[in-house]
Amino acid sequence: MNVAPREVPMLFTPIKLRSVVARNRIMCSPMCQYVSDDGGPTDWQLINFGRFAMGGSGIIFGEETAVEARGRKTHHCAGIYNDSHVAAYRRINDFIKSLGSVPAIQMGHCGRKASAHGPLQDRAPLTEVDGRNGLQPWQGLAPSALPAIPGGSLPHAMDRDDIRENLAAWREAAQRSIDAGYDICEIHGAHGYLIHQFLSPVSNKRTDGYGGSLEGRMRFALEVTDAVRAVWPADKPLFFRISSIDGTGGEWGMDDSLALARELKAHGVDVVDCSSGGITGDGTLAALPRVPGYQAGYAREIKQEVGIATAAVGLITDPSHAEAILRDGHADIIALARELMDNPNWPLQAARALGHADPLDLVHAREAQRLRLREQHRKEYPSGLAVDIPFGPSEQVPYSWAALNAEPRVRR
Ligand SMILES: Cc1cc2nc3c(=O)[nH]c(=O)nc-3n(C[C@H](O)[C@H](O)[C@H](O)COP(=O)(O)O)c2cc1C
Repeated sequence: MNVAPREVPMLFTPIKLRSVVARNRIMCSPMCQYVSDDGGPTDWQLINFGRFAMGGSGIIFGEETAVEARGRKTHHCAGIYNDSHVAAYRRINDFIKSLGSVPAIQMGHCGRKASAHGPLQDRAPLTEVDGRNGLQPWQGLAPSALPAIPGGSLPHAMDRDDIRENLAAWREAAQRSIDAGYDICEIHGAHGYLIHQFLSPVSNKRTDGYGGSLEGRMRFALEVTDAVRAVWPADKPLFFRISSIDGTGGEWGMDDSLALARELKAHGVDVVDCSSGGITGDGTLAALPRVPGYQAGYAREIKQEVGIATAAVGLITDPSHAEAILRDGHADIIALARELMDNPNWPLQAARALGHADPLDLVHAREAQRLRLREQHRKEYPSGLAVDIPFGPSEQVPYSWAALNAEPRVRR
């Protein structure tokens, strides 16, 4: 894809969300790491999320971070359910901020997808044998007592008291997130986790006010949003990730997502992060061909129909493609996950590819200085020329760059 270059590509224009300004529109999409220690982050997160900030991304999400311990998928998933977690996240967030990026938390609760191994063990459910090896299984929560996978263990169907307690957990996690220095908070309402389980008729068979009609199924999502918005500062943006379409046909489609996005906007959400799939199976929507930008159309529909900012995500790897999505008004933010994992310096390379006037502005001054010098050397000495060792044993060392520049002794 080719887009005409312009001085500041749109990908690199700052975005202001409430009072928070991100230096560009590249967002590191949430990525679970499965390396936490009783919910708290380790050095892995400092390095891993730090490298994305060093590479120039404007907004750095960490990973789905559970609002209560039993809302984790595995024993090694991240959480922010304990005050002792706050200082460890703050260390990471201070570092990210020092590099000019905005730290963001995705708060979540996996509901019925709890008590499993991580992806390297194919997310197999924990068993009594695992329990004897220190990985005790536990019962997940859900709107209805239906397993996440056929033959899987039954979750506890939440009653009104459970819902009340759960809302308190979201509120307290949001409070801790402020203390930990996050500037953006996202509610994970996608990928078959607890909120999505309430939204989808596949997993929500309730007959009370939290089930049945779309309005009933949206109630829990909106109550979580209200609980978080009540404590999340009015000058900081709130994101909400949705599965824009899901199911095997007709269970959750764009009309449902548009209705949800309208409600989210009315309840104080600033950005809808448009993903898809996950209510059944392995967390992906198999019917969806994985072409570049396969979910960007959802971001476009929601942005244009509802008038709310959106993030587009899903196999966006080509800078010109990212730029075109923004310029065409299909989304406000471009989220990348695997591409940044593959290449944390993607923003820098995208800036070069899009003809940004000063790509090195994206990296820390310490690195920019050295890289600028390298650019200068490249200009001064044309490539393809080999340089002789400029002095013999009896010669003086010419410790003067100027002298060398004046008369580079080159051999063809
Ligand atoms: C290792 C890994 C972990 C992920 N963890 C999360 C997560 O915690 N929360 C979430 O909403 N999405 C998660 N995702 C999905 C990504 O945020 C993203 O939506 C998806 O990978 C598509 O974007 P991509 O094609 O740029 O990778 C994860 C993806 C990967 C690769």
